Amino acid sequence: MAGLKIRRVLVAGNWKMYKGPAETRAFLATFEPPDGVEVVLCPPYVSLTAAVESGLSVFAQNVHWAQEGAFTGEVSAAMLVELGVQGALVGHSERRQYFGETDETVARRVVAALGAGLRVIACVGESEEEREAGQTELILRLQAEAVRDAVGEHERLVIAYEPVWAIGTGKTATAEQAQEAHAFVKSLLDRPVLYGGSVKPENAAELLGEPDVDGALVGGASLDPGSFAAICRAAVR
Ligand code: 13P
Repeated sequence: MAGLKIRRVLVAGNWKMYKGPAETRAFLATFEPPDGVEVVLCPPYVSLTAAVESGLSVFAQNVHWAQEGAFTGEVSAAMLVELGVQGALVGHSERRQYFGETDETVARRVVAALGAGLRVIACVGESEEEREAGQTELILRLQAEAVRDAVGEHERLVIAYEPVWAIGTGKTATAEQAQEAHAFVKSLLDRPVLYGGSVKPENAAELLGEPDVDGALVGGASLDPGSFAAICRAAVR
C-alpha cells in the first residue's frame, strides 16, 4: 500500500418516505451532529428545501437521467442542483425491488448526476436467497461493475453496501461480513464504501471499526435526532 490514506467517514440518513417539511424542520431543531464526521440527510423530495436550509449536506433519494422531458414523477439532477442539493442516492434496493430499477438504469442515473456536479451514493447488495446460494460476490460484481463501467472511480462517487436481508429487519451483517463485502467491492471499484442495513447506536462503532467500512447509510435509526446523532458520534475518528 502506497502512503497514508486520510480516511473521511460519512454517515448518511436515508429517511425513505418519512418526514414532510414540518417534521424535517422539527428534526433539525433538535439534531446536533458532532464535528469530525460528514453528515448527510436524504429526505423525501418535498422536504429537500427544508433540509437544505439547515446548512447540512443534503442528498435526494433518486435522480433521473434526462435533463428534462416527459417523465412524469421524476426529478432531474439540474433541478436538485437548483435547490442546493449536493448529491443523490442511486440504486437503493427498494428502488430495484419495487420500482423496476436495473443495473442499466442505475448506471444512467449515476452518469447524469455526476455530470451535473452532484455527488452520488450508489447502492449495491445481495438478497438473502442470493447470499444463501453463494452468489454474494457475483451480485456485487454485476452491480458494482455496472457503475464502474459507466463512470470509473469518479471522485464524487461513493458506494453503499446494503445487504437486502439486513434492511429494516434488525438483522445486521456481522462486522466480518461487512468487511469482507466492502473489501471485495473496493477490489472492483476503489471508492469509499458505506455500510447500510439495521445500523443502530448499539452496533455502529463495531461496524465502523472495520478498516474498509468508510461510513454508514442509516434508515430507521436516522429518523430520530438522538439516535442518528449517536450513530454519527460513533463514527468520529
Ligand atoms: P435500515 O437502517 O432501516 O435497516 O435501512 C437501511 C437502508 O435501507 C438505508 O438506505
